[in-house]
Amino acid sequence: MEDISILAIETSCDETAAAVVKNGRDVVSQALYTQIEIHKEYGGVVPEIASRNHVKKLPHVVEAAAHDAGGFEQIDAIAVTNGPGLVGALLTGVSYAKGLAYTLKKPLIPVHHIAGHICANYISHPELEPPFLCLVASGGHTQIVWAKDYTEYETLGRTRDDAAGEAIDKVARVLGLPYPGGPNLQELAKHGDETKYKFPHSFRGETHLDFSFSGLKTAVINLLHKFDQQGQTYRKEDVAASFLKNVADTLVKNTFEAAHRTGAHALAVAGGVSANEQIRGAFGKRAREEGVSLYFPEPQYCTDNAVMIASCAYYEFLKGTRGGLELNARPVMEL
Ligand code: KG4
Ligand code: ZN
Repeated sequence: MEDISILAIETSCDETAAAVVKNGRDVVSQALYTQIEIHKEYGGVVPEIASRNHVKKLPHVVEAAAHDAGGFEQIDAIAVTNGPGLVGALLTGVSYAKGLAYTLKKPLIPVHHIAGHICANYISHPELEPPFLCLVASGGHTQIVWAKDYTEYETLGRTRDDAAGEAIDKVARVLGLPYPGGPNLQELAKHGDETKYKFPHSFRGETHLDFSFSGLKTAVINLLHKFDQQGQTYRKEDVAASFLKNVADTLVKNTFEAAHRTGAHALAVAGGVSANEQIRGAFGKRAREEGVSLYFPEPQYCTDNAVMIASCAYYEFLKGTRGGLELNARPVMEL
């Protein structure tokens, strides 16, 4: 089969990213402009500011990725994340990708952001093939997905309120850590005692595979309020470690329960939260105990990037998925 190189664009949140990937697996080039420093000032992503910066940076990021891949003539198709995500941010990428595909007379391929996160594992693990089970845990989503095939997914469980990353960022914020909360909380937790505080686990004894993180988040906030009111001293490190242990335990419990039910022998984890060292450790320990093959993307492909979108687009391309000039951004979109 002839080689297919796809240039993908990702602008669903606060990373402005473009990448070229060959045959869904080989990274040819990538460029990423992170807006973290801009949003830090506000303690979180400001959607309008994210959109404006995508508009400003996207042409440069796309040019850089195309240049490093040997020019636009080396590209067979243009892919873009069209949902889910921040609508204004998505629109900047979708509009740019449509213009590019039209000008270059190349096919346009819309990609689901969550499917992209799952496909990040194909980049880091050339031997991985569906079917496998995948936990996607990010700032906007937490769901357990049965990846039946390269383009066919079934969601077995999902959060009913906060995403894991959302709860992590919130707890980091109340602990006074700067944005982005996740990586900073991880570092703090390394110096803490994870057994110090017992926070509640949601849906104990229930048979479904859904998650809930808002109760846990509130329990942490209430504890910190209590300490402050009573003038009680505490170590932030211990709170961070105990909280992350709770999140990790819940993610591990439901994901391995799903693995038992589906009979999956291969298990992947993806999304920004899968970069977390404590969570990776908890999954690793359980996978060894159960003799299950475990896959994580390399940390740079856990958080939002265009490489994962280009990987996903390759399989959609082979299936015949195409977007026209009517393609629109879809802030909410089922997998
Ligand atoms: O996948 P992602 O980059 O964007 C979304 O699609 O939402 O995920 C971002 C989330 C944020 O909540 C961020 O704090 C979290 O992933 N995150 C982490 C780590 N790196 C990113 N959480 C814990 N530990 C980390 N090392
Ligand atoms: Zn994401």
